[in-house]
Amino acid sequence: MATPTPHIEAKKGDIAKTVLMPGDPLRAKFIADTYLEDVKRFNTVRNMFGYTGTYKGQLISVMGSGMGMPSIGIYSYELYTFYDVDNIIRVGSCGAYTDTIDLYDVLLASSAYSESSYASVQSKQDLKPYTYPSKHLNQAIKEAAQRLNIPIKEGIIHSSYVFYRENFDDYKTIFQDYGAIAVEMESFALFHNAHITGKHAACILTVSDSLVTKEATSSEERQNAFTKMMEIALALA
Ligand code: HPA
Repeated sequence: MATPTPHIEAKKGDIAKTVLMPGDPLRAKFIADTYLEDVKRFNTVRNMFGYTGTYKGQLISVMGSGMGMPSIGIYSYELYTFYDVDNIIRVGSCGAYTDTIDLYDVLLASSAYSESSYASVQSKQDLKPYTYPSKHLNQAIKEAAQRLNIPIKEGIIHSSYVFYRENFDDYKTIFQDYGAIAVEMESFALFHNAHITGKHAACILTVSDSLVTKEATSSEERQNAFTKMMEIALALA
């Protein structure tokens, strides 16, 4: 049966039960080209490329989410609701809020803090500052990381809806008051969508920059660090 949505042209059945979601659609292409076999592209709408293939014989999909909660909110909702996807694992980058985290560290989100109204608007509920990933996916990710001997740090992440803040030092308050150790822009909405659809989500991040030390990584260095995170995520196929 054909099931195109406004943003995904795939047919029902074209997408695996588990989808890895980097923000960048070209990163999705890179993952498909590098790690998957028997790859079929299922989406080109808005160049938000999506691919299904096999990893060690297991079917898995990978698709870009775009940047920010409105974007991942649309794609994850359509994947869960119209394409029967069960698990979405965001694989992204983040900025460190504390000097106990180093560039290239791999982080696992234990919850997402946000000042965003995404969740309260989406399902008419009171504003809540945190949303949560799936316990069983997080457990599977930690076990995969251990098996692969890749260190992973777990903590609260900040899903910000503003990248360029006028007051750069705002991050200090968010670290102190809400416990967020790093910042990205998507997981709060992804976790909420998983919750309201009865599905599962998790988020693994590679630290690409530090708001404390102002260091940033080169794109080549990022690629290496990214490989570790991808191996963990793909192990869930
Ligand atoms: N802010 C928001 N999102 C990010 C950052 C950042 O500094 N780094 C990587 N994703």
